[in-house]
Amino acid sequence: MEGEKPQLMINGKRTDGRMPGDLRPIKIEVGILKNAEGSAYLEWGNNKVLAAVYGPKEAQPKHIADPNRAIIKCRYQMAPFSSLEEHNRSGPNRRAIEISKVTKEVFENVILLDNFPGSEIDVFVEVLQSDGGTRAAGITAAAVAIASSGIPMRDIPYAVSAGKAGEEIILDLNKLEDNYSDADMPVAISPRNGEILLLQMDGSLTKEQCEKAMQLIIKAGETITKVQRAALETRYL
Ligand code: CDP
Repeated sequence: MEGEKPQLMINGKRTDGRMPGDLRPIKIEVGILKNAEGSAYLEWGNNKVLAAVYGPKEAQPKHIADPNRAIIKCRYQMAPFSSLEEHNRSGPNRRAIEISKVTKEVFENVILLDNFPGSEIDVFVEVLQSDGGTRAAGITAAAVAIASSGIPMRDIPYAVSAGKAGEEIILDLNKLEDNYSDADMPVAISPRNGEILLLQMDGSLTKEQCEKAMQLIIKAGETITKVQRAALETRYL
């Protein structure tokens, strides 16, 4: 009901104290799963996400193999204990299938798939704790996991969302903001050339609002990319 909608901006600040263009704090740790070729653990605000990468290995079953390039399998999943909402029925729900698909498409555009004909690369994203923006957190973590596995990529992509609370354009929506905002636009970008690898939109933005949101996303990318690279460097340099 309209009357129950919480106020998302109070005296120019957000409910968690952030300014409209502020990111939540991000931490990434690389190489924490012994059996995976690459892995990363990410904390982004109250989101906690684990990403694991296996392969390249022979594609199974054989009929799915592409003789010219590797295929990517991607599974995004929220652990049943990751939020207060009900999502512990067995098997992936429609949302998880969608997020798995868009995540896969991000990496199809940056991994050098031609280098590994006939093989598959498996990317797993497990959300352990969720607070809005988990598809962006998952893509950001998986990018680091893939880079740490040594699978060649044109670039290390990042993702973050921006949206609208009333007339204010806000960056990196948390769960409350996600629920009650007027728009939410998750975007994944290849920072090297600015290529957009994912752009989804819930709600609507005017052209000017969309440009403002993209500016915030690109600015945030400088910070997110630094955290991703620092995590890889502590491990490998
Ligand atoms: O996570 P993201 O914002 O990318 O996706 P969403 O579908 O817009 O969901 C927003 C948030 O709602 C998630 O990040 C979770 O915190 C929460 N959620 C949940 O707790 N349980 C679900 N079954 C779906 C969403």
